[in-house]
Amino acid sequence: MENETVAYVLALLASGRSSGFTASLLDAAIQGARSVEGVEVARVRLHSHRFGPCTSCFNCIRDEDHECTLHDPMGGDGTLMAEVKRANGIVIADPVHKWGTSAQCHLFIERLYPFVWSGRLEGMPFASISCASNQGMQRLANRNLCKWAFTLGLRYVGGLPVHTAYIEQARAEAEALGQRLGQAALVDAQDRRPYPEPERYVDYLNAPWSPLEPYLDNLTGGTMAYDGSLIAQGLQTFRQREAIELLQQAREPFTQALALYQRGEYQNACRELVRASALWTHATWKEFLEEDVVGTRAPSAYRPIEDELTS
Ligand SMILES: Cc1cc2nc3c(=O)[nH]c(=O)nc-3n(C[C@H](O)[C@H](O)[C@H](O)COP(=O)(O)O)c2cc1C
Repeated sequence: MENETVAYVLALLASGRSSGFTASLLDAAIQGARSVEGVEVARVRLHSHRFGPCTSCFNCIRDEDHECTLHDPMGGDGTLMAEVKRANGIVIADPVHKWGTSAQCHLFIERLYPFVWSGRLEGMPFASISCASNQGMQRLANRNLCKWAFTLGLRYVGGLPVHTAYIEQARAEAEALGQRLGQAALVDAQDRRPYPEPERYVDYLNAPWSPLEPYLDNLTGGTMAYDGSLIAQGLQTFRQREAIELLQQAREPFTQALALYQRGEYQNACRELVRASALWTHATWKEFLEEDVVGTRAPSAYRPIEDELTS
């Protein structure tokens, strides 16, 4: 009896070298994913697709279906975008560039912005591989990929920071990672489970990158105290009544999150941070974005770029 394909894994190569070190790790991951019965894998080289950066037109927010209106492979009707929408799991293999991710990888992730609004990728399994062959910083690069997975609501199956000093061993690890991704993709194909923020924040405590500390650090300007924080400052400087009310509501869960974090109660700190974050994000949206972004077809500052690209 022939095997029936039930899950689709997208294996993305972000390196410009189609058969270099990064590619060999991706191929090992593909082998692992293909070893799972019912999993089909598509290997796609990002450099074979020509697409530009997000132009901040915000059409994907206003559009009912949250589609990107740019006419390139990552636009709403683009070939690469169609692959992403079809996927039950994605693995990206990225060469380490300048102690971080490659520009091509960043470009791809940036163009996934419409999914932040549609929520269509929420809960989809994701894995990452970062490959360095020189000075290194593969761990830093891989943490960045994990951070992006978090912002898209993806389930982080695992990340593999690799230096070519141990590439043979890493190929075996990449194969195992691919297999785990294949299995997770099968589950996704049957039923994509929602991935609510409280669960996601807590899960990522064990991932290479967790939002808890950087988020609190950023809101407090590094002091981990309420006084002088962005929320305290916003209460002084915001003008919109609704925005100020939201900030007032954010104060309590935010101070709770800080206290719990200081006590080492990280899971509870995450739950309070999720509450504070929703209020803070909503407040900044009301204060800075709503009128300009949602109320008009496109913010006037961005129209020249948009016109250039679509003409
Ligand atoms: C623009 C650029 C920047 C790079 N920066 C780093 C770096 O910061 N650390 C490092 O170890 N290797 C660096 N490299 C080397 C790549 O990591 C190397 O190409 C790696 O082996 C990726 O595999 P691949 O090129 O075979 O796909 C860089 C390469 C390029 C082209």
